[in-house]
Amino acid sequence: MTTHQTIRRLSRIAALVGLALAAGVTAAADGKAALQALPEAKPGNADMIELGKHLFFDTRLSGDQGVSCASCHNPEKGFADGQALSAGYPSTEYFRNAPTLINSRFKNVFMWDGRLDGNDMGTLVRDMLTEAHTMNMDSRLMQERLTQVPEYVALWQKFRKDDINGMRVYGVVGEYVKTLVSQNAPIDRFLKGDGSALSSQQKDGYEVFNGKGGCVACHNGPLASDGERHRTGVPENPEVLKNPNRTITMLRHYSTSGMPNYMNARTDVGFYAISKDKADIGKFATPSLRELKSTAPYMHNGMFDSLDKVVDFYDQGGGQGSELKPLGLTSSEKSALVAFLEAMSGDSLNVAAPKLPDYQPRQFGKN
Ligand code: HEC
Ligand code: HEC
Repeated sequence: MTTHQTIRRLSRIAALVGLALAAGVTAAADGKAALQALPEAKPGNADMIELGKHLFFDTRLSGDQGVSCASCHNPEKGFADGQALSAGYPSTEYFRNAPTLINSRFKNVFMWDGRLDGNDMGTLVRDMLTEAHTMNMDSRLMQERLTQVPEYVALWQKFRKDDINGMRVYGVVGEYVKTLVSQNAPIDRFLKGDGSALSSQQKDGYEVFNGKGGCVACHNGPLASDGERHRTGVPENPEVLKNPNRTITMLRHYSTSGMPNYMNARTDVGFYAISKDKADIGKFATPSLRELKSTAPYMHNGMFDSLDKVVDFYDQGGGQGSELKPLGLTSSEKSALVAFLEAMSGDSLNVAAPKLPDYQPRQFGKN
């Protein structure tokens, strides 16, 4: 190799290393996984966001005009719903917990089982709107309803010159969802160099998180999630089998996913329903640990109603079949860890629902 080639190769390697650092991969300088501050979020189109916010709260986007996004992702409850298991669309009931929407824009794996990737918020919104167990909406009917609300047509025409289009509505709602980002969380101030942002107990908790607790192995990066699926052995929520409506939604999810022999499943199999690889039975996507203060109860089925219970669960090495090992934490290590988890919550993002305009069907000849 000539000196020239060597120099070129070295500089290419240096450029790659630089790229990896700039991309903010989840490794700290010493190569280990670490938490990171939230990246800056580019502001979206203000007119689209304004319409998207109205639609987020509007029950006319659901088949029976009974629920909106905010029914299950309620701003007063950290954009979750405060219940262990989601109510689901009226007359159905869901078999998992409704997750918070805060920081969705930074996620790359969505849903508790990680079945959707996050390249396109519009696709996620479409699923929520059209699925029978969430909003059960037909997009052509939705388009016609929205077209008969003159204020919505006017808002639409601020950013597009054509008529309201059902398919494009998904992206408009998504644009609003993308504005929901944690604000001013102590952990971000701390990671950006303000040593006083965490109390000394929280700093002890951070040490447990990174050290004896081993949390950072899976909970790393800006969201405290590795975007992978793991088996922690959270116990089944008995409500799913006690309530036939919930059992039916679960089995329907399995059959739609093409899961073999699904009729015999009586547990939440997690990612297995999607991958059909037995090694994935009971695996769930690592959730973000941001905004936990307002999003209890926790886990895919809401089995723990407090962070103390979550930490006790991890201290025991998780549940049946878990990948985890018992931790042997002292009671002061446990409370420090809980205090640290709370430092990953920012200011409240509670917003009031905007006043929603009424239907005013157009006059004959005015379409
Ligand atoms: C009837 C309750 C309900 C309604 C209404 C609802 N959702 Fe959801 N949403 C859920 C549940 C439950 C999940 C998790 C499903 C799962 O993991 O199996 C979810 C998941 C999501 C996710 C993925 C979050 C993540 O971190 O994985 C997004 C984004 C989302 N919903 C947005 C919306 C939007 C936008 C609307 C309105 C168009 C909406 N949802 C309406 C219950 C609801
Ligand atoms: C092997 C990977 C792994 C490790 C290690 C791990 N977690 Fe988790 N964590 C997960 C997964 C996966 C879930 C979701 C499990 C489910 O819903 O069934 C989760 C869920 C949680 C939740 C619930 C979040 C929510 O919104 O419902 C909290 C809180 C949590 N973990 C904290 C911790 C703490 C504290 C530690 C260290 C003591 C830790 N985790 C270690 C993978 C891990």
